[in-house]
Amino acid sequence: MTHPLLPRTAVIVVAAGSGTRLGEERPKAFVDLGGQSILRRATEGVAAASVGQIVLVVPDGFAREAEAVLAAVDAAGTVVTGGDSRQASVAAGLAAVDAAMDVVLVHDAARALTPPGLFATIAAAVTDTAGVIPALPVVDTIKRFSGEVVGDTVDRSTLLAVQTPQGFPRALLAQAYEAAAVSGVEYTDDAALFAAAGFSVRHVAGAEMAFKITTPADLARARAHSAGMLPRVGVGTDVHAFGGAGSLWLAGLEWPGEPALSGHSDGDAVAHAIVDAVLSAAGLGDIGTHFGTDRPEFAGAHADVFLAETARLVAAAGLAIGNVSVQFQGNRPRFAGRRAEAERALSDALGAPVSVSATTTDGLGFAGRGEGIAATAMALLHPLA
Ligand code: CTP
Ligand code: MG
Repeated sequence: MTHPLLPRTAVIVVAAGSGTRLGEERPKAFVDLGGQSILRRATEGVAAASVGQIVLVVPDGFAREAEAVLAAVDAAGTVVTGGDSRQASVAAGLAAVDAAMDVVLVHDAARALTPPGLFATIAAAVTDTAGVIPALPVVDTIKRFSGEVVGDTVDRSTLLAVQTPQGFPRALLAQAYEAAAVSGVEYTDDAALFAAAGFSVRHVAGAEMAFKITTPADLARARAHSAGMLPRVGVGTDVHAFGGAGSLWLAGLEWPGEPALSGHSDGDAVAHAIVDAVLSAAGLGDIGTHFGTDRPEFAGAHADVFLAETARLVAAAGLAIGNVSVQFQGNRPRFAGRRAEAERALSDALGAPVSVSATTTDGLGFAGRGEGIAATAMALLHPLA
């Protein structure tokens, strides 16, 4: 990154906590969030805001992983080890801020999905004398209590739910941290520490997506959002040989008079390729995971049973099927005359549009020699709203 948009702004990302309330084995910032660590996701957001310096504050022993995160997002940065409290971690980060920086933003790694635009908004609103924090209105009714007894309702119109990044003029934040070190007082956030030193703090609109990952439910929400930004594709193939008993079942239809395919079920290679494609797109394994030979109830089952169960599994995982496209290779049956009927049967069973095409292979390979049928399917899934 050669020309940062905010060259004199540093962002301190505090990631040195252990994540006790999350209860995972690794420190919270190093827990997986949709294929990347929470720290990596948070740092990507900061890097997208294009600031002059990123300071990652991590637990002892995690410096190399943090260096790798900076390298992966191609950002200019510094890694330091944090302290026993969040405040100590911020102080360690502040000591590593380059002299050229005159605005400092302090950000929780745990707010991994913060929109990059929020960093720019906060940085732009900081003045030489005042800090700026993002905040949202309080939506719940808030009450005081004593033991089991509920007391007064607090007027929520006078309250704010505060987030990060919190931005400050660097010189005054350094002064405020020195004062806190002398007094030994622990503050709940940087704005409180800054205000205690006599400086003023203003607020701007926060962002719903800047929520903090604290509990397992928060992590599930963050994972759903990060998976939710993109559709998912899957591919599936299947091959069955001719030589089964009875009549042919293919693409969800019975074909009287045609030679049957062999297999644990009815040998419907088209339906099985669809199942594999859909399960793969959902990250739910494959046909053997759910319909293997250890499930005797599926022996001899037809496409409608497989596809309905596949649709149920996918919906339970929070995904909807956009569409499926499948093609089979084989000399027979002659497919064109029953294409519409097959597409209707498969689509009804799966609860999503399925299109089917067929081709011969110019006499080449096992399909060309009439030994069997090969099918290839692709599925597109998207998260349920
Ligand atoms: N943090 C830190 N150093 C600490 C404590 C917290 O850098 N000694 C960071 C966390 O990594 C997190 C942010 O401050 O990104 C907000 O803290 P919190 O959500 O409380 O995280 P943890 O302290 O890790 O979680 P818990 O309180 O559940 O243990
Ligand atoms: Mg904590």
